[in-house]
Amino acid sequence: MTQHAARPAIHRRNRPSILAAPLIALALWSWGIAAAQAAESGKDAMAAGLPRILVLATGGTIAGQADARATGAYKSGQITGEQLMQSVPGLDKLARLNAEQISSIGSQDMNDKVWFALARRIQEAFDKNEADAVVITHGTDTLEETAFFLDNVVRGDKPVVIVGSMRPATAVSADGPGNLYEAVQVAADPRSRGRGVLAVLNDKIQGARSVTKTNTTSIETFSSANDGPVGYVDSAGGIRFMAQAQGLKRATYQLPAGEQLPRVAIVYSHANMDAVPIEDAISHGAKGIVLAGVGDGNTSKPALDALEAAAKKGVIVVRSTRVRSGFVTRNVEVDDDKNGFVVSEDLNPQKARVLTQLLIAGGVTAPAELQKAFTATW
Ligand code: DGL
Repeated sequence: MTQHAARPAIHRRNRPSILAAPLIALALWSWGIAAAQAAESGKDAMAAGLPRILVLATGGTIAGQADARATGAYKSGQITGEQLMQSVPGLDKLARLNAEQISSIGSQDMNDKVWFALARRIQEAFDKNEADAVVITHGTDTLEETAFFLDNVVRGDKPVVIVGSMRPATAVSADGPGNLYEAVQVAADPRSRGRGVLAVLNDKIQGARSVTKTNTTSIETFSSANDGPVGYVDSAGGIRFMAQAQGLKRATYQLPAGEQLPRVAIVYSHANMDAVPIEDAISHGAKGIVLAGVGDGNTSKPALDALEAAAKKGVIVVRSTRVRSGFVTRNVEVDDDKNGFVVSEDLNPQKARVLTQLLIAGGVTAPAELQKAFTATW
């Protein structure tokens, strides 16, 4: 009885009053918020440590979509950069990403206007410290030309990585998501600084000067014939660079005012070559001609005579080669000194064209000065 009488007293002391219940609920609620905020700010703190990467989308197969009824056919440049990023799981663990759409084109339609827009946006993002690195999504057909153009005009040592894919997002074993993941991985890595523009596709990291497309449809298409990849990247081993960044010398040219580079034509040499393509190029206002020559940048007698006449009139003549590897060397079979020609060294015709355009735009027209710029790397 005594025991029984004592219990209500104990209960009364410990039982929460009607007023206390909401206070406890409030405390639990605010504890919940605080815990959530702590977790959130933990995430923020983690995210704050991640590099800021600006993704500039231009189109290409990486943004391509197939018509479900079509076999193999697809349209490039259908998906935005933002959608692309969202389709790749885990990117948010690598970097803080921000996507902007520069164009939505297949890169066969790449042009000076898009190049200038890319170059200006990248420079602005770096100069204003809006980004630690840039990733460009691009079609593969002219990816190497955009890479080389940007490599020559973007100032600073922050990473710029260009990426594409050979299969559209809707294909079985699409290569785009993996390539984009690896491109962001490379861009986020501080060891990528000071290496110029890098192309990342199919587990390889390649330099803007050397990378070229070598196969029309295979995912194993980009290679650097003279010097091999700069490095490798894969999900198992991460990133392996084959050499330190120090000493990778590259020139930077002023982006010309306006939105167009000077007209420079590529003339492709072959058996039975005559002078017509050279005369055509000049009559259409070419300020420069790049010869995609046979062998060591050679061509037929009539074509060489036409090139010599063009050089005498002030047209810049650069001898490159249609052969995929090796160097074009001065004064071997062709007397470059006498003819006032320039040789492209390791640059393929499409890249020699870009450098010639930038040099002409910058007022460099003397063959000796032009040759120095082409030989600058060695
Ligand atoms: N025409 C192509 C281009 O955008 C599609 C091929 C590709 O991206 O691989 O370059």
